[in-house]
Amino acid sequence: MHRLTFRKPDDWHLHLRDGAHTASIVSATARCFARAIVMPNLKPPITTCAQALAYRERICAVLPSKSRFNPLMTLYLTDNTPKTEIASAHSCEHIVAVKYYPVGATTNSDLGVTDLRRVWQVLEAMQSYDIPLLIHGEVAAASIDIFDREQIFIEQVLDPLLEHFPNLRIVLEHITTQDAVEYVMNSSPYVAATITAHHLLLNRNDLLHGGIRPHHYCLPILKRERHRQALLQAATSGNPKFFLGTDSAPHAQSAKETACGCAGIYTAPAALALYARAFEQAQALDKLEGFASFYGADFYKMPRNTETVTLEKRTWRMPLHFEFGDSHVIPLYAGAEIDWQQVQN
Ligand code: DOR
Ligand code: ZN
Repeated sequence: MHRLTFRKPDDWHLHLRDGAHTASIVSATARCFARAIVMPNLKPPITTCAQALAYRERICAVLPSKSRFNPLMTLYLTDNTPKTEIASAHSCEHIVAVKYYPVGATTNSDLGVTDLRRVWQVLEAMQSYDIPLLIHGEVAAASIDIFDREQIFIEQVLDPLLEHFPNLRIVLEHITTQDAVEYVMNSSPYVAATITAHHLLLNRNDLLHGGIRPHHYCLPILKRERHRQALLQAATSGNPKFFLGTDSAPHAQSAKETACGCAGIYTAPAALALYARAFEQAQALDKLEGFASFYGADFYKMPRNTETVTLEKRTWRMPLHFEFGDSHVIPLYAGAEIDWQQVQN
């Protein structure tokens, strides 16, 4: 297969940042995705509907003219989120979900939830309004091995949560382990997962073999090859519980290439091409459309897109860097050949 035309995809997990950084970041995603779920982990985080709508305005203001890209907004759950904010989110068409960061788990999660029991009533409200909870599924305690954090989160936090809220729609975001794949597969239809392109293409050797590669550092951290294989199998299985979420997360070059670098991999400039590479590896290009363009929309109860995109098997070179405010951001595979290219329809 050298040419693929399929329904325009959506990115169900994306970081667009804010301010001077945003313009170039937004246009990379708007080129190939119709909609994206925009993460609220700004500094300070987006905790209210008013903040989410103002942030959405700022994103729309820097969209290329004629773009019909639709940013879908989320609220950042804190110990103090009031139930009334959930009612407001329910009545706002642009706010589609609430994001749960365990405190300290990742970038800008200092105001995340310290203990889920503190937000029990908020979760009850979300369940009754049918607003999905998007989960960064890692425990954060420093004493817990970083490679085990997802698995332990599933046992200690997610499983009890599902027991209490069987009708709360949940997306376990950017899953990285075979344990998460199996857990989601065996859960009710209310539970789904997103999978990033980088977790489909890289394992932990790509982070550490031959030297530390800060541009391959993300959270949850890259895992062993057997976990990558499990993710690849899940993504290409045609199971609608697994769908596309890039978690494209740009940081300035200086914030990555330093003694204590930030987590996040910038994949937006080649997102679809990278998924195509992974699906081709698994000889499953015929499963890409469902994963990228159907299952996420179905889970979020939104219409599937009607436009199409076309990818061709054609080599191009990823630029060494992109503009990022007054700095640069280094994309995944900077300077390397990319074997699929999005072409105009
Ligand atoms: O690698 C990551 N980067 N993981 C996250 O959970 C957050 C993200 C970011 O915002 O940079
Ligand atoms: Zn993320």
